[in-house]
Amino acid sequence: MASSRFLALLAVFIGIYFVSRFELHKSPAVRETAAAFSAAVYNPIRQALTEQGPDVVVKQDDSQEAFTSVTPSPRSTRAPYTRHIVAVGDLHGDMQNAQTVLQFSGVVDSFGNWTGEADFFVQTGDIIDRGDDTIKLYTWMEKLRVQAAKVGGVVLTHLGNHEVMNAIGDWRYVYPTEIETFGSVAARQKMLTTGRIGRAWAQNYTATSRLPLHPHLGPPNTPFPPENHPVHFQKDEDEDVDEDSRYYDTNEPLSHSALSFVHGGLSPTYSNLAPFPTKINALSSSFLHKLQNRRQPPPHPPNAYPGLPQGTTREEIELYDANGPFWYRGWATDSEEKACVDVEKVLARTGTRRMIMGHTPNFQGIVSRCNGKIIIIDTGISHAYGGALSALSIHYTFTPIDNKEGEPRWIEREVVSALYVDRQETIVDQEREVVGDFRFDTV
Ligand SMILES: *[C@@H]1O[C@H](CO)[C@@H](O)[C@H](O)[C@H]1NC(C)=O
Ligand SMILES: *[C@@H]1O[C@H](CO)[C@@H](O)[C@H](O)[C@H]1NC(C)=O
Repeated sequence: MASSRFLALLAVFIGIYFVSRFELHKSPAVRETAAAFSAAVYNPIRQALTEQGPDVVVKQDDSQEAFTSVTPSPRSTRAPYTRHIVAVGDLHGDMQNAQTVLQFSGVVDSFGNWTGEADFFVQTGDIIDRGDDTIKLYTWMEKLRVQAAKVGGVVLTHLGNHEVMNAIGDWRYVYPTEIETFGSVAARQKMLTTGRIGRAWAQNYTATSRLPLHPHLGPPNTPFPPENHPVHFQKDEDEDVDEDSRYYDTNEPLSHSALSFVHGGLSPTYSNLAPFPTKINALSSSFLHKLQNRRQPPPHPPNAYPGLPQGTTREEIELYDANGPFWYRGWATDSEEKACVDVEKVLARTGTRRMIMGHTPNFQGIVSRCNGKIIIIDTGISHAYGGALSALSIHYTFTPIDNKEGEPRWIEREVVSALYVDRQETIVDQEREVVGDFRFDTV
């Protein structure tokens, strides 16, 4: 009698445990309706269409580094802090595929309205070119930004190399049918400079961002290294000290609990990584301002490439070159050996744990390298490519552990998944114990 009651109780506890485990893995969003889209839109063409010759197709990295795992069972009666982030790569003028992706990832409903399921929606640039839905997509992003803000959500949008190309007057990838949606070349130029889209780029789009996983680090784009914390980062007399380690402070265990987003990539040799992301974004903002406020050159083609405006600084030129954040492809093309060493340097200096970017497509799916420290989310979503429809989902939980004495203890957990129309894959499922007094009631 007593033992069967014990078994029943045990079964209930095991049940609760599995349900709570499963909830974390399960995207709240992959819905049956999404499968219906599958047949219609999932039509992979493994053909390169980029401007720089053959595309680099990177194989999925399934080498999972060992990480220290703590007991996953709930050890707390207090509620955890949670943060859900969804990120989507290059959309290239395809409203229908964008709607499909944002819907199956739970960001919007079937009417394209913000659902509130995600706390943050991130788009990594290249909304324009190769399709006709430019106006619709930028209008939609601003609508979502407003809808999200009403329920405490945040939309982070980025400039890609194609946004900047269009601002320069480099219109090589603009469809003639897309120009018609603006009315004329002149109307398009106006809309991308002083008009609705141009003003949205200037006000609401950045070149890169730093998104904290925990509110303890402040709002998105709080600079790293922290302004009031310079001592630790000064050059050490001791030459033996690993340079990267100076960016980690044992008194600040959450200092790097953040993600970076950018279109191309943050090169380890790019000179303006720090303070991150403020330095890059200031350069991007001044560069865009110069582009939008010059007399608009006749677009190329058929006219000659207009070049950069007079007065473009050396740093702005460097921002837009092949090693800069809009164009860099090293994280997709470098050997595993090189990338996994270099990435540590960039993560240390930018105060982040992983870097998420678009730009270099892999039509089969999202690419994870170096145990998810490098994540490339351009899967050729637009019908111009016919790649996989995908979104990246990050579930962060910060759970207090019940303990009576000593400093507060927490389990910090991050589950990163690739979502597709018909499936999902866990890229990273990592947790660690953190000690300290971290408030999360003020966001
Ligand atoms: C979508 O949101 C708008 C408000 O922005 C609202 O007017 C409209 O009714 C919503 N549509 C649906 C179908 O919920
Ligand atoms: C930028 O975003 C804000 C909301 O954060 C919105 O009110 C504003 O209209 C947007 N700017 C443009 C030009 O769309």
